[in-house]
Amino acid sequence: MIDNLIDGKQIAGQVTEEVQKRVEALKAKGITPGLAVVLVGNNPASQTYVNNKTKTCERLGMYSILIQLDEGVSEAELLNQVELLNNDEKIHGILVQLPLPKQIDEDRVIAKISPFKDVDGFHPESVGKMMIGQQTFLPCTPFGILKLLEYSNIDVAGKHAVIIGRSNIVGKPMGQLLLQKDATVTYCHSKTTDLHAFTKQADILVVATGRTKMIDASYVKEGAVVIDVGINRDENNKLCGDVDFDSVKEVASKITPVPGGVGPMTIAMLMENTCLAAENTSK
Ligand code: GUN
Repeated sequence: MIDNLIDGKQIAGQVTEEVQKRVEALKAKGITPGLAVVLVGNNPASQTYVNNKTKTCERLGMYSILIQLDEGVSEAELLNQVELLNNDEKIHGILVQLPLPKQIDEDRVIAKISPFKDVDGFHPESVGKMMIGQQTFLPCTPFGILKLLEYSNIDVAGKHAVIIGRSNIVGKPMGQLLLQKDATVTYCHSKTTDLHAFTKQADILVVATGRTKMIDASYVKEGAVVIDVGINRDENNKLCGDVDFDSVKEVASKITPVPGGVGPMTIAMLMENTCLAAENTSK
């Protein structure tokens, strides 16, 4: 085991242990936190992600349901399903797994989810609140990365954080949350010219490109903290990230592995958000 590893599995274990205590406290009051996961179609990767989510719920004593809809489901049917879940008292959190098939407008589906049950933090109301620093559900992957940094005693204030990727799910909220922690933030993306020039300045480098092992040691400053958000399969069908781990681990002061880095944190934060949604109903 290399000593500069950030062990996401272990930290996720600590986070879920705390969540479990909160679940027990809620259950003592007669409330069982409930999560509904909606999966459209049969993308094998999405299937694995949602199974992990519902299994973790069960392990923590939470209630969960998985709603599987056909690839060809109409937008109206999906919106109707979300509406049923919005009105279901046993359900405190709703997650519609993305991406959705092309006949469905993702934005419309996300906007349909009740902001009180928006445990993904993707609803425009949640995003707006996050932007202005108000208390809301934070998107699970960037929220999980903040926790990884916090539990690893990495102070963000005054550091230069460089994010590669600008998705609504990871890149954009990640930059915003690091900014709120007083980092200086730079966003890079597929149209950035001279990516090296930016990444070489990063004290904290968050990589969410979706491109297998794209970032090698040539992009990384000596001593940087490197967070790998990617989940890909290499030429041997082995899970790997967007970072070339074997190359970058030689220069980074801290690095997340894939698997066992960011992935377990995303699920842990989903559990925390679902627990929070349930707590909010008893206030
Ligand atoms: N697809 C990839 N990541 C996520 C996520 O965090 N939430 C949802 N709903 N879909 C995703």
